Amino acid sequence: MSTTYTLDTSTSRANPTPAPLKRLTVPAIQRHKSGGETPEPLVMLTAYTARQAQLLDPHCDMLLVGDSLGQVIYGLPSTIPVSLDMMCAHGAAVVRGSYHSVVIVDMPFGSYEGSPAQAFESASRILKETGCAAVKLEGGEAMAETISFLTRRGIPVMAHVGLTPQAVNALGGYAARGRSEEEHAKILADGRAVADAGAFAVVVEGVIEPIAVALTQTLEIPTIGIGASARCDGQVLVTEDMLGMFERVPRFVKRYADMASLISDTAAAYAAEVRQRSFPGEDQVYQPKK
Ligand code: KIV
Repeated sequence: MSTTYTLDTSTSRANPTPAPLKRLTVPAIQRHKSGGETPEPLVMLTAYTARQAQLLDPHCDMLLVGDSLGQVIYGLPSTIPVSLDMMCAHGAAVVRGSYHSVVIVDMPFGSYEGSPAQAFESASRILKETGCAAVKLEGGEAMAETISFLTRRGIPVMAHVGLTPQAVNALGGYAARGRSEEEHAKILADGRAVADAGAFAVVVEGVIEPIAVALTQTLEIPTIGIGASARCDGQVLVTEDMLGMFERVPRFVKRYADMASLISDTAAAYAAEVRQRSFPGEDQVYQPKK
């Protein structure tokens, strides 16, 4: 049975029929890994809009309002220019469009690195304005104090180690990490530091597979892989990547559809009908009452 939505104008929510599953919680996600084992991998996808959230929500455990929206939605060259205003607007839309998944909103570059107090101010604004359950921030050992500060004040934090796109200028690009012994050891230490600081889960991005496996085997919290390993406790992809919206396909992405061609072909069909005056047809125009 497909889901239909009725708009409740008093809350601006589109309520689904049939009623959705109860929303998952951050502790439930963390508890999903027990005694070092995850019975079934956790499913996370990015979402930036209410309608996208409605469609993805029933299939996911977590929806990530990633700062990748900078490139995907706004056509920016990196995630660096993304603002708190953008994250709050899209985060609120995704919370309104979802009923089951835990919604996590990325903290944008420059909104948390200055001090734990700056991070608390930004994260509390994100929670208040969006209604999301948790924030995500990039960085390992250097962010441990901040993660501890936030979690002890009631703000659940998902960490992000390995290839951290907000550090693109320092890393010199988006290549996979951990090929040197030094880098390998550093990423393992980053994972340990964020887990000890109280992160409830950690995204492990763009690392050689043995690092992802070692983090998954040693950390008590779930590892969510992207360009990492099928042995992680969960997986995340940028939704537009797996839908086939872009020509550029990084190695770690699998395209499950070719939405770019579908949209382009559909627009071409519409344009042709407009130019032939065959749209709008009889069914799409209003006539005076007889
Ligand atoms: O911003 C984002 O979408 C992310 C995921 C790719 C993990 O951080």
